[in-house]
Order: sequence, then structure tokens, then C-alpha cells
Amino acid sequence: MIKDLVNQCEPLPSNSKLLILGAGFSGQHVANLAKQMGANVICSRRKEGTPGADCIFDSTKQKIPSEKALSEVTHVLSCIPPDAEGEDPVLISLKKELKNMPLQWVGYLSTTGVYGDCKGQWVTESDLPKPQLARSTRRLGCEQAWQTSGLPIQILRLPGIYGPGRSAIENIKAGKTKMIDKPGQVFSRIHIDDIAGAIFHLINLSTKKNIKPTIVNVADNLPSTNIEVMQYAASLMNISLPPIEPFQIAAPTMSSMALSFWQENRKVSNNKLCNELGYRLIHSDYKSGLKDCWLQNKSNIFSNNYFMN
Ligand SMILES: NC(=O)c1ccc[n+]([C@@H]2O[C@H](COP(=O)([O-])OP(=O)(O)OC[C@H]3O[C@@H](n4cnc5c(N)ncnc54)[C@H](OP(=O)(O)O)[C@@H]3O)[C@@H](O)[C@H]2O)c1
Repeated sequence: MIKDLVNQCEPLPSNSKLLILGAGFSGQHVANLAKQMGANVICSRRKEGTPGADCIFDSTKQKIPSEKALSEVTHVLSCIPPDAEGEDPVLISLKKELKNMPLQWVGYLSTTGVYGDCKGQWVTESDLPKPQLARSTRRLGCEQAWQTSGLPIQILRLPGIYGPGRSAIENIKAGKTKMIDKPGQVFSRIHIDDIAGAIFHLINLSTKKNIKPTIVNVADNLPSTNIEVMQYAASLMNISLPPIEPFQIAAPTMSSMALSFWQENRKVSNNKLCNELGYRLIHSDYKSGLKDCWLQNKSNIFSNNYFMN
């Protein structure tokens, strides 16, 4: 919850201005935290009038934020995925502008998909990425483009993102739940509170202590099966779930996108973030995270108040 985050986080360094490029689900939550902490923050979205759109950035339409919007920006967070050609939308459209800004920190939200299949083992930042899906290969290409950009980059590798408004609770409500059983298959996750909290933590470590590893996994402590997560969400909602289906039976009816998630099995280690860099998770596992989603769902905070203008 945002109030737990505000209590835990240190404010951004003084005179900072944070530009969030692609303030969708995660970016908007980081912006909400920044606003609550009294930071100067500005967000881009692709369309005028969309909630939270302080400025417009759309790489496909050559729409870039104005000079005024970019002036005095000291910290940038990109939450924008690679384009269809595998190029990074920010680097192809804004690199020159970014290089001319007095930037202290640039964060890039990437995915743990770059690690590929790890056969259910733990994976850390020291493991060599071995992407096997085309979208993960494109992502690794963008990570490399950021790393060679000459900007003060820090890459956050994220597993499945969830939070109020986008979680197992909404899937169950929408009747989209499939109780698929594939023995040994787990998924890692991260709640948006901890994406926002980790970003504040990493910015402060970089500015105050000059500690800034280039790549950091941001995941919770408990990779778990899809069934465990669904069952816990259903218990909060006090409703029953469809019967469990073996993967081999469900697979022929699944979309290729859904199937691609089941082709890879890994446990994402947060040892660097939590033990070496000292970040304390707000939601250490899916139970804590889903309880938060359920409480906010019940009080309608998400639907009424998620996007703060
Ligand atoms: N969803 C997951 O489980 C997951 C897991 C790991 C990593 N990730 C990655 O983490 C990042 C943040 O995830 P999210 O779920 O918070 O993303 P999201 O809600 O889909 O937001 C993506 C943002 O990128 C903007 N955008 C997309 N294409 C653009 C372009 N060509 N030019 C300018 N802006 C563009 C969108 O603009 P509009 O606001 O106008 O739509 C949106 O604000 C993404 O890169 C995502 O791929 C996601």
C-alpha cells in the first residue's frame, strides 16, 4: 500500500526531477509514490488526455516531450518495452536529448525473460542471459543498447508484475482462470509497491553512497505455482475455482502467448537487491501482495483513485 511505501522510503535527493517515460501500470505507481513523497515528477503517455499524461511521448509518431518538460530532469525511468523491430523506443527517439541532460540516474524496466529457461533453478544477475523467446531476445538487445548508451543506466529485471487492478483477483473475476498443473513449474512475481520501493532505494543508494550495480533482479522471496496463487486469491474472495487440469490436456487450447510462459521455468533470486543492497520488501510473497490487492479492491481505491493527476 502506498502509505507503507511512503513510511519506508527515503525521499529522492534534493533538487531532483524524475521523468517517467511510459507511465502505465508500474510507471504510474512510481509516480504516485514520488508525488506522495513530495518529489518533482513528470510522466509521459502516448495520448493527450490519458490519466497521468503530463507530457506526450510516442516513438511511432515522432511525438517527443517538449524542451520545457525535459528541462532540469535529473532522473529518468523508462517503462517502455521494445518496439516490434526490437529497437528501444526511448533510445531511438530521445537519446540525443537524454545525453544533453544533467542526468544522475537512468532506470530501465526489463524482464527476467532474458534468462530463458533455467529448468526450475534459481537464477541470479551473474548468470548469463540465454533468451529463447523472440521477445526476450529483443529485450536483451535493448538492455545492451542502454548499457552502451553512455547514460548512467541501471537495469531492473522484473518477473510477473501484479498489483491492485491487475492480479489473480481480476483474472478470477473475469472468469479467465485456468487451474493448470505442470509439476515442478513455478513463476516468480513482483508487486508494484516493491517496484516503486526498489526504485527509490536504488536511486538513493546510487546518489548517496555511489553504489549502482548495472543489473538488479527485483522479485519477491517466493516463486510459486499458478495453482497456489489462484487458490489463495479465491480463498480471500471466498469463491470456488474450476477443477485442476493437467498441462498436457490444457495445452492444445492455450494461446501461443500463454504457452510461451509455460515453456520457461525459473526462480528469480533477489539476493542482490535484498541482502547485498539492503532493500526490504513490502510484500515478501504472493500472500501479502494479494491481501493488499484484495483490500484495495474492496475499498475501490484502484478504480477511483489509481491515476493521480
Ligand atoms: N507485465 C508484466 O508482467 C511484466 C513483467 C516483466 C517486465 N515487464 C516490462 O516492464 C515494463 C513496465 O511494465 P508495465 O506492465 O508497467 O507496462 P505497461 O503498463 O504496459 O506500460 C507501458 C508503457 O509504455 C508506453 N509505450 C509503449 N510503447 C510506446 C512507444 N512506442 N512510445 C512511447 N511510449 C510507449 C505505454 O504508453 P501508454 O500509457 O500511452 O499506453 C505505457 O505507458 C514494460 O517494459 C514491460 O514490458 C512487464
